[in-house]
Amino acid sequence: MRRLKVLFVSPEVEPFVKVGGLADMVGALPKEIATLGHDVRVMCPLYSTTKRVGEWRAREEALGVDVGPEARWARSWETVLPGSAVPAYFIEHDWYFGRPEVYSESDDNAFRFAFFCRATLALCEQLGWIPDVIHCHDWTTGLLPVMLNTTLKDTPLGRAATVFTIHNLEHQGLAHRSIVEFSRLPAAEYRATSIESHGQANLMKAGLYHASKITTVSPSYAREIRTRDGGCGLDGVLQFRAADLIGILNGIDAQAWNPEADAALPAKFSAADLSGKASCKAALQMRLGLTPDPHIAVFGVVARLVHQKGLDLLAESLGHVVERMHVQFAILGSGDEKVENAFRWTAEKYPGRVGAHIGFDGRLARLIQAGSDLFVMPSRAEPCGLTQMYAMRYGTPPIVRATGGLVDTVENYEEGKDRGTGFVFREANSAALYQAIGRACATYYDRPQEFRAVQLRGMQRDFSWAGSAPQYLECYRWAIESRTGTVLD
Ligand code: ADP
Ligand code: GLC
Repeated sequence: MRRLKVLFVSPEVEPFVKVGGLADMVGALPKEIATLGHDVRVMCPLYSTTKRVGEWRAREEALGVDVGPEARWARSWETVLPGSAVPAYFIEHDWYFGRPEVYSESDDNAFRFAFFCRATLALCEQLGWIPDVIHCHDWTTGLLPVMLNTTLKDTPLGRAATVFTIHNLEHQGLAHRSIVEFSRLPAAEYRATSIESHGQANLMKAGLYHASKITTVSPSYAREIRTRDGGCGLDGVLQFRAADLIGILNGIDAQAWNPEADAALPAKFSAADLSGKASCKAALQMRLGLTPDPHIAVFGVVARLVHQKGLDLLAESLGHVVERMHVQFAILGSGDEKVENAFRWTAEKYPGRVGAHIGFDGRLARLIQAGSDLFVMPSRAEPCGLTQMYAMRYGTPPIVRATGGLVDTVENYEEGKDRGTGFVFREANSAALYQAIGRACATYYDRPQEFRAVQLRGMQRDFSWAGSAPQYLECYRWAIESRTGTVLD
């Protein structure tokens, strides 16, 4: 294939700004596509909390952004994704992005990202760099394909194909209809087969209607979102576009998440020599105030504490688990206040047995992945999930519910059978989770050799982007060919 110009447009990118796995994906996949010989670049807003990792250069020319009644002026910054030559550009505009949070609760949330979409297109023009394909991520980028298909249609930029990746269908970016005018889109786009949905603008829906091709982050989730139960109200649109929708399993950045080289760990380890994992366990117990004990089964949790992740099910049964099983829990997360408090209280009630850190802490996340014996992820829905893959790579078999990407990445272990990388359960309730934890415990204590085999199989799986990056390239080709009507050689 000829050298393609690929632009990633995203609200988050590791290591600069991260809320969840979307950042991990956008921080890693572009590098992998670049190593396959393509010209890849990334654009992201500049928030007040963005970490300026590496060398940053302010671009001299101001950026005129066509939104609202008069153009607004933005600034742009240029750096690279660390460890690569992939350019990363950040759009600076104090009014819209000079705040700590990526996604805000304010009324202007969707408008901020409409501004961002226009700004990225303006920056392409300023750079004189017209991508062959623009890879959009979730609702924040939903208006970009509409802009290309309408106001920019007859410009060189308007010929760019778009690939729209759904990372999470639950967040759709709802906004007042005035966002259409604000974004300088034709008023006619406010209709049910474009931006409108139940009397509001829906940016996710707009992206789904207008993108050349749609992907989501696992094959199972691609099936689930076309059903009434899993479609979050957009199953109709997704069925309508079913021929243009595929699931491509997320990979992990195998260099950034490597137990043999992880700078956040007190000791390194590998499948060939697991001894360092015991030091990580001791350090984790110390860090979270757990009683030092090399033999007890430690269960780890690292997650956003939101309904989707099902950790309320763990919060409900945790006391029961700790009273009946010989286990410790190492918990890191933030989100839903009720779940946060439930974990805080349980930690107070069972000192030495339950340690909870409420907050966001990248280093502790790694220590939990490495130092735990098992990882708990009872998601109600999981488009892909990266933490279960990190856990397997760090020799920590995950306990997961059979949904979305968890089905595609974790193979269930059954007693006496020579396969499995984790413990899978089906029902989204605390009793089923309790049973799965019990099953994992029994394997850990009663069949240590089988447990070791589960651990090693997980560590030996290749979850790197090398597997999925070529599928994205094929998808780019597919999008470009259908957009331009020409066959790529
Ligand atoms: P999601 O994107 O739905 O949150 P993923 O499993 O795809 O789920 O990715 C979550 C990412 O966010 C992982 O890199 C995980 O380590 C990180 N993460 C989640 N919660 C925290 C936290 N409290 N502190 C540090 N990292 C976290
Ligand atoms: C979303 C999903 C998660 C997925 C991540 C990266 O945040 O909730 O399952 O792994 O995006 O694609």
